[in-house]
Amino acid sequence: MSEQTLSTPWSRSLGLRVPVVNAPMGGAAGGRLAAAVRAAGGLGMIGMGSAGSVTALRRELAVAGTPDGIGLVDWVAARETGLLEAAIAAGPRIISVSFGTDFSWVPQVRAAGILAVTQVYDAPGAHRAQDAGIDVLVARGSEGGGHGADRLALLPLLDAVLDIATVPVLAAGGIGSGRTLAAVLAAGAAGAWLGTCLAAAEESLLSESARLAMLAADAGSTTVTTAFDEALELPWPSIYPARVLRNEFTDPWSGLDELPDSERLRAAIAADDPRLAPVDAGQGVGLVTHIEPAAAVVDRLCGDAAELLRTHRE
Ligand SMILES: Cc1cc2nc3c(=O)[nH]c(=O)nc-3n(C[C@H](O)[C@H](O)[C@H](O)COP(=O)(O)O)c2cc1C
Repeated sequence: MSEQTLSTPWSRSLGLRVPVVNAPMGGAAGGRLAAAVRAAGGLGMIGMGSAGSVTALRRELAVAGTPDGIGLVDWVAARETGLLEAAIAAGPRIISVSFGTDFSWVPQVRAAGILAVTQVYDAPGAHRAQDAGIDVLVARGSEGGGHGADRLALLPLLDAVLDIATVPVLAAGGIGSGRTLAAVLAAGAAGAWLGTCLAAAEESLLSESARLAMLAADAGSTTVTTAFDEALELPWPSIYPARVLRNEFTDPWSGLDELPDSERLRAAIAADDPRLAPVDAGQGVGLVTHIEPAAAVVDRLCGDAAELLRTHRE
């Protein structure tokens, strides 16, 4: 029943049962999560983050078969020869490349019959992406987890982007309940691009300790920072900081005598210690209260959203 209530022209055009997409989260959205979200009726994506490579993509493809979607990071795709080509050759229905201003990948993706997708943070960015031939915009609000411009919260962003969009717009940032899903669909989004609420799902690649840190967090536990990228010397453009769980590395008042150096940070990452290591998470993290299969998350969000939209119409 929720399928009929929630479906949008865009989700119907792709034959999705429900208008939700799992965000291509590096280190979380591997082949297992993509396959689980697809089985739940949404669009399942594999994410290649900072550590993306052709080898890593092939490993996840071996798990997922042909995924619905593959997401790349602009500077990683530029550095890893053959990564974009390997993504195209895998034959997904959508490919996203985010966090860059170079749209030269768009014609290549579209020529293969694949929808070109990117995340935007304001109306000028949406205009630029549309002019470059992007097929689907993801309006990513600043409450979202992981990297992204810290500019507009999702609702004002959706207003700005939906006003000028000539292509479908997916909403991202802080969507982790039936309420928030219903809100963005009622506002006119073609679907929801879900990160944090699926990052700790059973099928995610996330480490056990990072999951536990997410379960212990509440909506106020995150912050936006470039500190990790600077310490790790990752070439993220500074306009794309990351929303992460606050920890001893992000909080200067956390009681440490001195700021941890990058060597200690690398050791904490190797040891999966979220007291220092980064855990990407958005403000919706407070809604992540236990570890469950991705299908349970998708079913709950969609069932609750459909119920809300139905009862509000009565
Ligand atoms: C753990 C995690 C990893 C992420 N990694 C990526 C990534 O590799 N590529 C990307 O385009 N977006 C990445 N994102 C951002 C998502 O695409 C999306 O903008 C965000 O998750 C939406 O907000 P939400 O987390 O509140 O749902 C990541 C998000 C999270 C939570």
